[in-house]
Amino acid sequence: MNHNYTELGLVNTKEMFAQAMQGKYAVPAYNFNNMEQLQAIVTGCAQSGSPVILQVSGSARKYADPIFLPYMVQGAVAMARDIGSSIPIALHLDHGSSFEQAKDCIDSGFSSVMIDGSHHSFEENIKVTVEVVEYAHTFDVTVEGELGVLAGVEDEVSSEVSHYTRPEEVEEFVEKTGVDSLAISIGTSHGAHKFKLAPGELPPPLRFDILEEIEKRLPGFPIVLHGASSVTPKHVDMINEFGGNLESAVGIPVDQLRRAAGSAVCKINIDSDGRLAMTAVIRKVFAQSPAEFDPRKYLGPARDELITLIKEKNENVLGSAGKF
Ligand code: G3H
Ligand code: 13P
Ligand code: ZN
Repeated sequence: MNHNYTELGLVNTKEMFAQAMQGKYAVPAYNFNNMEQLQAIVTGCAQSGSPVILQVSGSARKYADPIFLPYMVQGAVAMARDIGSSIPIALHLDHGSSFEQAKDCIDSGFSSVMIDGSHHSFEENIKVTVEVVEYAHTFDVTVEGELGVLAGVEDEVSSEVSHYTRPEEVEEFVEKTGVDSLAISIGTSHGAHKFKLAPGELPPPLRFDILEEIEKRLPGFPIVLHGASSVTPKHVDMINEFGGNLESAVGIPVDQLRRAAGSAVCKINIDSDGRLAMTAVIRKVFAQSPAEFDPRKYLGPARDELITLIKEKNENVLGSAGKF
């Protein structure tokens, strides 16, 4: 089923990023797979007056159903407007893996797509990215490219080690591809186990020197940070307390993310923190109320916890609260 994103009440990321760059904050990109996550993201952002990028991976799109998904998002936008919020809302494909997939998303109502060619050679990455940009820009859909590889799982592509972005490649990549934003690798990582630390050891700082070099080479150009969950200790502890097993889970320290949000980083991707928040609450309900079997009694509190987390992130980490 074809849709144009404007019909769904969505915008692309162009204006969002221009405002974030000027205001020295970052737009949150929260991943979702289901109704409760989507409602929590939109409610949390509407209540905190933050622009938002609703982010869907290829496997999340399959899970939610590609035909059903645009209607869910249309409903979420209507819900935000009904509570009097005018926040800009974008729908973005996370870690797009091929031209065909990106095209399918654009045709079905996405306002922004990522084409992640970071695991290809530089030349192949440019080639596939150009193909997506040419198609996307025909429909005024914005495109995120990536240079450098994050450690951890990048959707269906997994990498053991991270390869930092090479600043000397960024100008040629942006110029030749025409991308609207660029994801970089400066030491963040996907998932809930970002670093293997010895007891008492602190996570290594992000490579702000690489970011600064990129900012110098691409003045005013929107940069994207993937793998930016903090892996909230409160939720990890709750999961472990109520029967889970998440030993040695560790994320990106909040002060590092705040610093990034004040730079050319205009989009910060958060998935794992939302998953942990919901799982923690669901485990608690199951442990404390073993006779409960009404999904609303565990999905409801999980959704509330996610709303709280999102408002807190927008206010205290991304600096995106109160902008709309
Ligand atoms: O970067 C990847 C995102 O966290 C999405 O993960 O493929 O499990 O939906 P997923
Ligand atoms: P986290 O796993 O750190 O939440 O990263 C999410 C992400 O980068 C989605 O693209
Ligand atoms: Zn990512």
